Amino acid sequence: MTATSLAASFAPTFNGPEGQEDMPYLLTPGPLTTSRGVKLAMLADYGSRDIEFREIVKGIRSSLLDLANCGPNYECVIMQGSGTFAVEAALGSFCPSKRYKTLVVCNGAYGERAAKILNRLGRPVVTLDKGDSEAPSPEEIVSVLSSDRTISHLWFVHCETTSGIINPIQAICKAVQGRALTIMVDAMSSFGAIPIDMSGWNIDVMVSSSNKCLEGVPGFSYVLVRRQLLEESEGVCHSTVLDLCEQWRVLERTGQFRYTPPTHAIVAFQKALEEYTHAGGLSARGARYKRNAEVLVTGMREMGIQTLLSDDEAGPIIQTFLTPRDPHFHFETFYEMLRQRGYAIYPGKLTKRPSFRIGTIGQLDETVIRGALLAIREVFREMGVSDMRPLES
Ligand SMILES: Cc1ncc(COP(=O)(O)O)c(C=O)c1O
Repeated sequence: MTATSLAASFAPTFNGPEGQEDMPYLLTPGPLTTSRGVKLAMLADYGSRDIEFREIVKGIRSSLLDLANCGPNYECVIMQGSGTFAVEAALGSFCPSKRYKTLVVCNGAYGERAAKILNRLGRPVVTLDKGDSEAPSPEEIVSVLSSDRTISHLWFVHCETTSGIINPIQAICKAVQGRALTIMVDAMSSFGAIPIDMSGWNIDVMVSSSNKCLEGVPGFSYVLVRRQLLEESEGVCHSTVLDLCEQWRVLERTGQFRYTPPTHAIVAFQKALEEYTHAGGLSARGARYKRNAEVLVTGMREMGIQTLLSDDEAGPIIQTFLTPRDPHFHFETFYEMLRQRGYAIYPGKLTKRPSFRIGTIGQLDETVIRGALLAIREVFREMGVSDMRPLES
């Protein structure tokens, strides 16, 4: 391929919606479509030692603690890298390596990934496997804990982004109160849109990342954690890079990261937090996503497409639709034709049932969702897809 034809192959060929002419809307759970203000904030090259940059980092750490209602006994440690870096950092820094075990609740790919990481690290782990579209009940978690007194840590995912299911975080935390248990939550795709009360619900550790419901760009993740746990984790982490205790101590002492920080992603996140507060904070963010999800699901059902989850199970973050059985439906073609019209949905599928997913978070509102629905209708028509009954697994 020549340089010219290579460049031409990257040139946008779709006819994107207004305001987003150069790139399609990302109907995915992150990276997601960000505001213009967030993108513009990145037109600044901060040095990692600049006093202004260090103040920004300090402000972000304190805002995240407030947002999770952490109170005075918690710390926020920012970690370079995507969400999984914070997941592995937290598992490696806080989970026991002998005598005691971690119970990982799995109902999708992200719970499974946490168990895989622990296995890889040689840390004792047991799993409660719920398949990929069923929420665990607080009672069954309690029953596993009662049957094995060597379980000292519990890890579960709040919104399992594999299907979009919301696990009953508050009820689980309530049901395990009074046990000698470290409660760890992966709230990657929910934090900022669905309430989490870390001190009130007695959660010890929570992880999330920059490019989810707070609508920043990818580049870092963060761990909110009880200070005592951090102090006790000195020397425990298997990895130098992922050592949360060391990262925290340096951030506290110098206001700097140990290694090159993602400066542009950090300043973009500061802007995203400002916009978040200005737009009405968590309740407004949650309400916008909920409306996006309702409009999307209603529109898809009107076309005859069925959802994997019932309305009480599915959250506002991402919706899973069952693949239509019509022989003209091919996901790759569907995906590409939608992308050409300015809407990038989530590529591929993760659930065991044939399905595809459409995210409802990011700088999207119901007008964008209605535009996506029109495009989906048009694409189905062009592909000749009319039998929307689900394909059998
Ligand atoms: C619940 C959950 N956990 C973990 C991750 C992993 O994050 P990343 O892909 O940023 O490493 C994701 C990503 O979407 C997620 O949704």
